[in-house]
Amino acid sequence: MFSVISFFLFVSAVSALPILQDSTIDGYAIDINEPLSNGTLINVRLDRYSTIYIRSFNYNTSSFDQNMIDTIRNALVYRLRVELYMTPNQFSNVSGTDQVEDVYNNLKSNSIPIGGLFLRVQSGMYSYNTTANAEFIDSSVHRAKQLGFQVGIFTNAEEWKSVTNNYSGLDSDVRLWYWANNGNGVTGETTHSFNDFKRFGNWNEPNVKQFGVNETVSGADQINR
Ligand SMILES: *[C@@H]1O[C@H](CO)[C@@H](O)[C@H](O)[C@H]1NC(C)=O
Ligand SMILES: *[C@@H]1O[C@H](CO)[C@@H](O)[C@H](O)[C@H]1NC(C)=O
Ligand SMILES: *[C@@H]1O[C@H](CO)[C@@H](O)[C@H](O)[C@H]1NC(C)=O
Ligand SMILES: *[C@@H]1O[C@H](CO)[C@@H](O)[C@H](O)[C@H]1NC(C)=O
Ligand SMILES: *[C@@H]1O[C@H](CO)[C@@H](O)[C@H](O)[C@H]1NC(C)=O
Ligand SMILES: *[C@@H]1O[C@H](CO)[C@@H](O)[C@H](O)[C@H]1NC(C)=O
Repeated sequence: MFSVISFFLFVSAVSALPILQDSTIDGYAIDINEPLSNGTLINVRLDRYSTIYIRSFNYNTSSFDQNMIDTIRNALVYRLRVELYMTPNQFSNVSGTDQVEDVYNNLKSNSIPIGGLFLRVQSGMYSYNTTANAEFIDSSVHRAKQLGFQVGIFTNAEEWKSVTNNYSGLDSDVRLWYWANNGNGVTGETTHSFNDFKRFGNWNEPNVKQFGVNETVSGADQINR
């Protein structure tokens, strides 16, 4: 199985290191949905990525992804900033709020600090009822906030429109991680800036951008960046 990794750039995140010699950017990150070895994590750190986004949830079983525990723990040991993401499963017999709580409980029982959690909002993964979708996402966001997560949404304008009909009722402190790429690899990357962002939902500005997918990063193959 290959890892899927992406690059991000931050504007609001505070980063202690000057990352990749770009003064207009607060930091670069990768995202993964498969475990990474210690060796790769060390390389990621040495390559001056500040943050790692880790998918911590198995959509199919609508439960916390136990396979990612070691990667989460080890990324913290190597002093990467860790943010988690998940696509909550609306078709599960378990509510969105309980799915968020399952992630929380697994982090707690593994003594992992509660930090950032992004909910992935992706076309095709939610129902056709945009009102019900917005309610499902809103309630999951509220539960996550209650549990102490710094919550965000990972989506883009088209997906947000198709899933929620451009819902604008989320709390104003919910962060936005949006994606924009023109296909796989370095050639599919978009600008390492927010210049292409147009407001949607209730976001006037984004926090993080995924600008590339499926690249080779820090020696690991078939990785998105
Ligand atoms: C990875 O690093 C962690 C923390 O240093 C260590 O506890 C763990 O045993 C290492 N895993 C492997 C497979 O070497
Ligand atoms: C979930 O199921 C789909 C289709 O059945 C499969 O392609 C995918 O790999 C599964 N995901 C996980 C995390 O098991
Ligand atoms: C939910 O569905 C799964 C099978 O998909 C079943 O094992 C489980 O008991 C169900 N849980 C509840 C609360 O109904
Ligand atoms: C869509 O969901 C809303 C909220 O759950 C519900 O009130 C409405 O009846 C649903 N509409 C349809 C067409 O099912
Ligand atoms: C979504 O709504 C915002 C206002 O809340 C508007 O500026 C934006 O153009 C809308 N986007 C889409 C894709 O409809
Ligand atoms: C990622 O890129 C490799 C070639 O570098 C390709 O073989 C693979 O199909 C791509 N993966 C996805 C999910 O598009």
